[in-house]
This record gives sequence, C-alpha cells and structure tokens, in this order.
Amino acid sequence: MAETKSVKRSDYIEWAKTSSHARYSLAVSGVIHYSMAELGATIDDIEISGPSWYGYEPLQQALAGKCGVAVENVVAATGTSMANFMAMAAILEHGDEAVVECPAYDPLVSAASFLGAHVKRFERHFEKEFRVDPDEVERAVTNRTRLIAITNLHNPTSALVDNETLRQVGEIARRVGARVLVDEVYLEALFDQSPGSAFHLGHEFVTTGSLTKAYGLSGLRCGWILAEPDLAKRIWRLNDLFGNIPAHPAERLSVVALKKLDVIGNRARALLARNRPLLDQFLDSRDDLETVRPGVGTVVAPRVRRGRVEELCSLLRDKYETSVVPGRFFEMPDHIRIGIACDTEMLAAGLERLGAALDELGRAS
Ligand SMILES: Cc1ncc(COP(=O)(O)O)c(C=O)c1O
Repeated sequence: MAETKSVKRSDYIEWAKTSSHARYSLAVSGVIHYSMAELGATIDDIEISGPSWYGYEPLQQALAGKCGVAVENVVAATGTSMANFMAMAAILEHGDEAVVECPAYDPLVSAASFLGAHVKRFERHFEKEFRVDPDEVERAVTNRTRLIAITNLHNPTSALVDNETLRQVGEIARRVGARVLVDEVYLEALFDQSPGSAFHLGHEFVTTGSLTKAYGLSGLRCGWILAEPDLAKRIWRLNDLFGNIPAHPAERLSVVALKKLDVIGNRARALLARNRPLLDQFLDSRDDLETVRPGVGTVVAPRVRRGRVEELCSLLRDKYETSVVPGRFFEMPDHIRIGIACDTEMLAAGLERLGAALDELGRAS
C-alpha cells in the first residue's frame, strides 16, 4: 500500500465532533455516560492542585493494581488518545517506518504520519473476520520498522486479537527491533472475560487504554500506557513537553472511579447484554448487510451489499434523524459502523430507522 502523506489533523475526529450528532445516534463507540451523581463523588473528593509530578501516586497505584503491573510500568495519560500519541512519539524517530493495521482508527495513522514516520499498512480482511494475520504483518515489516500498531478489540469491527497471534507479531517486532503498540481501549469492554493486556506478553509490547469507552467515563480523561520501565521513563520525560501538570481534579475523580470500577463495569455489561440481542435480531433480518459479529465490544461494521453508503448515511440522517459512521472514515467505503452501547431505546429506534432507510434505498435501486 502507498505511504500516507504527513497530516496535521484527523478528518474522522472532526466529523465525529461536528457531524455525528443526531436524535438517534448510533455513531458513538463508547458506553453512555456515567454521571457524577452515580459516581457518588463529592466536593471533598476533589482538589484543584496536588502532588502530581511523574504521576499522582494514588492514581498510579490504582492503575497498576487494575492492570496487574508494577507502578514503574504505568504512565498516566490524557485518555487513550494522548497515550497513543506519547507512546508513538517516544518510540518513533523521523523517517522510521510504522506499520499500522488497515482498516484503522484514523488518529493512529495520522499521528504516526505527523511524527514523520513512513506509514505502511497491513490488511485485516473481512473474509478473515478482520483477524490479524502475522504473515500480512511480516510482509509489511522491514529492518526500518520501529512500530507496529494494532487495536484490540479492533475499531471499527470489534474483532479480538488472541494472545497467540499477538505473540507471533511480537516475534516479528523483536526480530527487527520494533515495538508493538496495542490500543486496548475496547478490550476494557470484555470486563472479567478479558484475556489481559498484551503488555504481559513481552518487552516489545506497549499498550494503551482508558476508562473512556467501556465505562462511560470519557470526561475523566483517565488513560494510561503500560511499558517496560526504561520506555515508561522516556515517555514521562517526553510528557514534560506536552502537559507537565495534569488536571488534578480529574486525577482525584479517577481514583474514586477506579475504586468502584466493578460497579461501573457491571452497569456497562448489563447494558451491552440488553443491547446485543437487538443488534443480532436486526442483522438477522437484513440480507442487505454482511457483518462479522465477534459477539463482543461496542461496535460492528457491516458491509452494505446494495446501494451507496454515502447516500444511505445522508438519507438516514436527513429523513430518519439517525447517524452511523460512514465507513470511509475507516478506509472501508462499503461499510458503516454501528455503535450499540447507547441507551437501549435509542438503539432500538435507531436500528428500526436504519432498516427503513435501507428498505427505501433498496426500493429505489
Ligand atoms: C481505538 C481508539 N483509541 C483511542 C480512542 C480515544 O480514546 P480516549 O477518549 O480515551 O482518548 C478511540 C476513540 O474513539 C478509539 O476508537
């Protein structure tokens, strides 16, 4: 695949901020917001400033405990977004090669490009249920590759990458002296079924995550990087250029949230258990959509078999007040991405409307 040009923006994120909103929004990938009232935090739990230098110790401890790692492996970050950026920036030098999955969450590609990397790609194929194929990774990697980037679960399909595959990718990386960045923000949505972070698979693994998607806590910006201690130190030092002092009230609230993460996770798990059958019934009823259904995660990315996706998305938005993500933002123009972690009534109404729009386009073609 051709190298990507250096960019200083993400068209997908701009679309998500400005154009994804609708009365029935199935464009969102995270669980509906968890509120301050539900968290039960009070003014006494927060403070404006505090001892946060290379991490706020109670938060560092809580994250290390949650991830089953030592504190020296944890770098706190402003969401998975900044975690990805900092990890990439610490690993990549200008002119290095970065090998990124395709389809991909756009900021992963754009950030590597912005950092001056030559971005190469490996495919995750629909026909192979969007699995990571180590042979495809091998073909894209050269002696100049310093980073291989994967999402697990995959955004936009929720495909799970198993540990054996990750190990094989780790071996490829080790051979050429590269790191494997695994964005695990959606792995959190497996809750106690999670196989655990790829960080545990070896030194070449650097993983990122946050409380954003699975817990409905996006506003806390509670993100993290797990890395071997030397790299973790380098990332902390690099962070001095970006952030220096984090928002301490958010750190304090993150500690409160991490203490009751089981409760917050149970609410999300119950929501997904209610919503997934609605999605399955809908997909069962549509022969105009072809979908890989991993049965986990918060999103799916069906292929639209008839008609044009852009036309479908416009009709859906304009007439049916419903939004999904057009696949072009994930380099899969024949697909749409549907989020299922919204309010159950909204999901039911949104899917009904999606069905009506597909029917209307089907009649017209
Ligand atoms: C794969 C992936 N990583 C990171 C993020 C951003 O996470 P955060 O809100 O924690 O920065 C997203 C959001 O859509 C995502 O899909």
